[in-house]
Amino acid sequence: MGEENKGSGENESVIELVDLCKSYQVGDMEVPILKSIDLSVKKGEFVAIMGPSGSGKSTLMNMIGCLDRPTCGKVVVMGKDVNQLSEVELARLRGFEIGFVFQTFNLVPRLSAIQNVELPTYANKKEGIDGRKRAQELIELVGLQNRMNYKPTELSGGQQQRVAIARALINDPSLILADEPTGNLDSKTGNEIMNIFTDLHDKGRTIIMITHDPELTGYADRVVHLRDGVIGAT
Ligand SMILES: Nc1ncnc2c1ncn2[C@@H]1O[C@H](COP(=O)(O)OP(=O)(O)O)[C@@H](O)[C@H]1O
Ligand SMILES: [Mg+2]
Repeated sequence: MGEENKGSGENESVIELVDLCKSYQVGDMEVPILKSIDLSVKKGEFVAIMGPSGSGKSTLMNMIGCLDRPTCGKVVVMGKDVNQLSEVELARLRGFEIGFVFQTFNLVPRLSAIQNVELPTYANKKEGIDGRKRAQELIELVGLQNRMNYKPTELSGGQQQRVAIARALINDPSLILADEPTGNLDSKTGNEIMNIFTDLHDKGRTIIMITHDPELTGYADRVVHLRDGVIGAT
């Protein structure tokens, strides 16, 4: 399954953010959201990013996940300076190296669970990966082997998030980014999802999880707080 720790460098950085800032243009006003963010995440770390609603957590995640470009500063993902990459190179980096998990699951409604998991391989498939076979293995990994032909509407929220986690893993990414993955789930189901992340972390995955729930930070190695556009460690 390739769930073991990849690569050799012990202190390799998966993410380096250097003096990152992000502003949004609203009318003719430039509204600063992220002011000066420095953050380094090492291979195999499980980092929780906390902050109140509206503090810019999702904005930060979009920068880390190369979904949006910063206004200033530097984003380095797996040693690559994102500013130097073309749109095509960015899409490849996202498709191969990053697995996304969102609060609202974002599954394709007309596809079955297993088809949702396999879907990313239609656009980007890592060499040597058999999409269908791996989708089946991942559906089993998240405990949904008896539900793999169900549509998202036929699944509970927790089951849908399991499908989304399996989908995030399809290309064996180096980094998993989760933006409030349990935000729409009750606490028991949320803990079940957190146990899946814990297992992935134990197998050497790098995980960055955004949350505003202090109870969830216990699962992480390290917690960073986003407040007033800057980051402070606990
Ligand atoms: N595309 C956008 N254009 C303008 N303002 C935005 C945009 N996206 C987010 N914002 C603003 O940036 C701030 C941070 O948003 P967000 O990163 O979603 O916060 P969080 O995820 O911490 O709740 C909010 O005030 C939000 O209204
Ligand atoms: Mg958010």
